[in-house]
Amino acid sequence: RTKELEEKLSSMETSPKKSLRSSQWLNKPDDLAMSALYADRYMNYGLTSEELLSGKPIIGIAQSGSDLAPCNQYHTTLAKRVREGIRTAGGIAIEFPTHPIQESSRRPTATLDRNLSYLSLVELLYAYPFDGVVLLTGCDKTTPAMLMAASTMNIPAICLNVGPMLNGYDRKALIGSGTVVWKARELHAAGEIDDTGVFDLVTKGTPSVGHCNTMGTASTMNALAEALGMALPGSAAIPAPYRERAQCAYKTGVQIVEMVHADRKPSDIMTREAFENAIMVNTAIGGSTNAPIHLNAIAKHIGVKLDLDDWDNIGHSLPLLVNLQPAGEYLGEEYHRAGGLQAVIAELLDQGRLHESALTANGKTIRENNAGKHSWDRRTIKEYGQPMLKDAGFLHITGNLFDSAIMKTSVISEEFRKVFLEDPNDPNAFESKAVVFDGPEDYHKRIETAEVDERTILVMRGTGPLGYPGAAEVVNMTAPGRLLKKGLKYSLPCIGDGRQSGTSGSPSILNASPEAAANGNLAILKDGDKLRVDLTKRKVNILISADEIKQRREELMARGGYKAIESHTPYQDLFRREVGPLSEGMVFPRATKFQRVAQD
Ligand code: FES
Ligand code: MG
Repeated sequence: RTKELEEKLSSMETSPKKSLRSSQWLNKPDDLAMSALYADRYMNYGLTSEELLSGKPIIGIAQSGSDLAPCNQYHTTLAKRVREGIRTAGGIAIEFPTHPIQESSRRPTATLDRNLSYLSLVELLYAYPFDGVVLLTGCDKTTPAMLMAASTMNIPAICLNVGPMLNGYDRKALIGSGTVVWKARELHAAGEIDDTGVFDLVTKGTPSVGHCNTMGTASTMNALAEALGMALPGSAAIPAPYRERAQCAYKTGVQIVEMVHADRKPSDIMTREAFENAIMVNTAIGGSTNAPIHLNAIAKHIGVKLDLDDWDNIGHSLPLLVNLQPAGEYLGEEYHRAGGLQAVIAELLDQGRLHESALTANGKTIRENNAGKHSWDRRTIKEYGQPMLKDAGFLHITGNLFDSAIMKTSVISEEFRKVFLEDPNDPNAFESKAVVFDGPEDYHKRIETAEVDERTILVMRGTGPLGYPGAAEVVNMTAPGRLLKKGLKYSLPCIGDGRQSGTSGSPSILNASPEAAANGNLAILKDGDKLRVDLTKRKVNILISADEIKQRREELMARGGYKAIESHTPYQDLFRREVGPLSEGMVFPRATKFQRVAQD
């Protein structure tokens, strides 16, 4: 045992701050028979009455890994070390499955399941005798779903990420999981690789257990969980197969028991300051465009005010420090070896950019955990003064096409900038004609024949939370094969009411709300309409007259509004009845009023 663990264990021998929640089930002096009934089925698999009735904290292990959720599947192994940590610290572990979410194969889209997984986890945490919970996170939506549930329940909770995969390689070239899909599509469309070549190249991006090794949504959300203070310092970036990952699982198990004794709850950790820290960290790591949706959703469930203006105001003026795909070159292993998130936080602390006294899961502040842990590898994690890019955060964009959308500027390429943004008479702005697609099926059908040239804006609609239930990751669209064959060197600008994969390097304007299916103005756009995009003013406008807009809206409503695809399952229908827009985190507004139910 290390000195640190010894100290932690001895400090925990003091009695808990308040009586345990589980005692409402397992210690009912006025109805012993009921306590026995509650306890007896857990004894079925070998737990003893001594363990269950000893007053030790009961710790849930929320297991999100299964054969159906391969990115998180390795958690079925890691959970054994979590258990040993819990046991060593004097707790009783009860592992249970959560609703699985597999990002890449779930149809119509994995985001549909975030709120379902959230709802079901709230039910489990509320209904059973848990004093605290370890949230086994990883693949994109598993992390926000679990943090949303921890927010609603507000019992002590800590995240354990499954960790990124090892690096993928094609000969010497690094192949990033997820990111490689876009490259393979382009090579295929340009005729440079055949069908087998696509399959081979894409699967090289997935060399081991773990979540995507790029700075996609999985790496982002687990980094933000750590930045919020909801995971152990240094835990987010450890690759899944590394020994430190299993050691971290053990330490997380020890920590949650201490958190229960200290009664350190999500609402003590996830304060407004913690969310602001997470927004700033998101810029420095080059985080996914899904981050605002998920972080705003978590904030809504814990009752902290947060909106997209905060992302622009707080997050835009920070630099990109992490050289990871898709905004940079490297992958998860280099990032971890270079110091991971702790090294990024150390840079931001030096500049006084973070709320340094924000409390974290281990009872220490973000400063105490991370100050001075600078990187030794400046290829991978840059110094604050010599970043990959300045002002690298998201823009919050409005206009007459939508009320709210975001844009990730860290992925705007030099080639794109030269074509669209370097007119001295109109700096940081451009005007182009739009070609409009109604969902991914329409895009695939028409992209090769539609009137698309080197300056076209591709618009994707009908893909928001209502239109394509859950909001599809389809806004980033590949240019037609004929342009790629001619050597087009940049992604065409894309605008849409859906989302974009965190692993995509497209400079898209996405998550537009209100969406077409809510009869936002995207629904009245036609092929050939001119759009003006002004990144300085944060505006996107359709260049048609107010009268024309009014007339088109009347015609739209006379047709009964925008026609989205039908619901195919009961939950898709329920989801559409309850869900709010992407700009508000795509939560179920009615669910957010059950904040902190566990305190009652
Ligand atoms: Fe699961 Fe990327 S698809 S982490
Ligand atoms: Mg994704």
